[in-house]
Amino acid sequence: MDMPSEDRGAPPEGRDDLIVLRGVAKDYDSGESVVRALRDVDITFARGEFVAIVGTSGSGKSTLMNILGCLDRPTRGTYQLAGLDVGARTNDGRAIVRNRLIGFIFQGFNLLPRTTALENVELPLQYRGVGRGPRRARAMKALEQVGLGERMGHTPNQLSGGQQQRVAIARALVTDPPLLLADEPTGNLDTRTSLEVLALLQTLNREQNITIALVTHEHDIAACASRVITFRDGRMVSDVRQDSPKDAQAELAKLPPPEVNKPDAEAQGATGERRGAAISAGFVIVALLAAIAGSGLGKAYCTYVLEQDVRFVPPIFGLVAVAAVAAARAKGVYGHLLTRDQRLRFSLYFSGTFLVLQGFGALAALPKPIEVAVREGGSLVALRFAGAACGITLAMSIVLFGLLTLFSPKK
Ligand SMILES: Nc1ncnc2c1ncn2[C@@H]1O[C@H](COP(=O)(O)OP(=O)(O)O)[C@@H](O)[C@H]1O
Ligand SMILES: [Mg+2]
Repeated sequence: MDMPSEDRGAPPEGRDDLIVLRGVAKDYDSGESVVRALRDVDITFARGEFVAIVGTSGSGKSTLMNILGCLDRPTRGTYQLAGLDVGARTNDGRAIVRNRLIGFIFQGFNLLPRTTALENVELPLQYRGVGRGPRRARAMKALEQVGLGERMGHTPNQLSGGQQQRVAIARALVTDPPLLLADEPTGNLDTRTSLEVLALLQTLNREQNITIALVTHEHDIAACASRVITFRDGRMVSDVRQDSPKDAQAELAKLPPPEVNKPDAEAQGATGERRGAAISAGFVIVALLAAIAGSGLGKAYCTYVLEQDVRFVPPIFGLVAVAAVAAARAKGVYGHLLTRDQRLRFSLYFSGTFLVLQGFGALAALPKPIEVAVREGGSLVALRFAGAACGITLAMSIVLFGLLTLFSPKK
């Protein structure tokens, strides 16, 4: 299959039109009656246009977007996208066109829950079979582009509405499509957040020449487009070019200042300082390695600086190393300092894991006489052992939590 160049900046010679619809109609046949959702629509979008599509509810806007997005095919008429006759393609063919040429943004964000921003953005590349390394690198770049480089490890419920929509935009962008389709992308957002999302889309349109078609019912939003198309009863009833569209960033500056620092406050409310992303096993394992390194350093310190031959290195050396390494890595892994609940969970996981490992170590090292004692007075020894274990875990967690807090200063 011949695919057009992926370079969205340079239109192929003689093909400046990205989208050409001719006589497009869509009927929905519900058995008894036929709904004529689109009637005889002729539209041409040049590359680099920012088109707002407006119209009352039921006027056919979403039907048009579904056709433009190759999610649905017209009942009549032809659709050419980047010179390809997409209407004539099979379902699989249209799926390839969709994956290569189109990014989607929806009103409801449509992110996978319980999946980090980074993984959500990687998904379209995964469908394309892009390997893990490049996939991750491109997803990170897209998230940085939308200003979310700091929140890659967050899941959607830890992000505000505006941030979720920016993740969705990053997901739409990550495949470098020449066309972005957005069906009421700001429908669930307040005025300020809507303008922020719009400013981002305007930047992408201007700086990367991405063609954007955006459905909205808000005048302020449509005013920022370079062209406004109005639909009524499935027909295009007006098509107006706006030579000097409003600048979303400038509109944003005109808004009264937010009461509290809104985006951040909103994000804090949603993510909570309270609840950070899950602590991974990898994070704990690296901390265990740090504990070993810290103990090694501690032993060297006792031997060479204090000139004492210690058999038992005070555990504080290991714990300080753990806390320092964990606190320092948090920024890279989670995009922020460990939150209080992450510090607590990490302290418990780490101490628990450490204890289990120590337990195995202790059992393996038990000398014969004690082994016999354990077998004979088994339950009592086991009880003491368990009690001591719980006490040590608790003490270790508390110390670790304190150290982590010390190493994660506020601002
Ligand atoms: N899958 C469908 N089956 C039947 N009728 C539909 C379907 N989708 C949309 N319609 C009808 O087509 C018309 C246009 O709908 P739509 O494109 O969703 O409008 P808009 O997005 O402008 O609100 C409406 O009358 C709607 O009820
Ligand atoms: Mg709609």
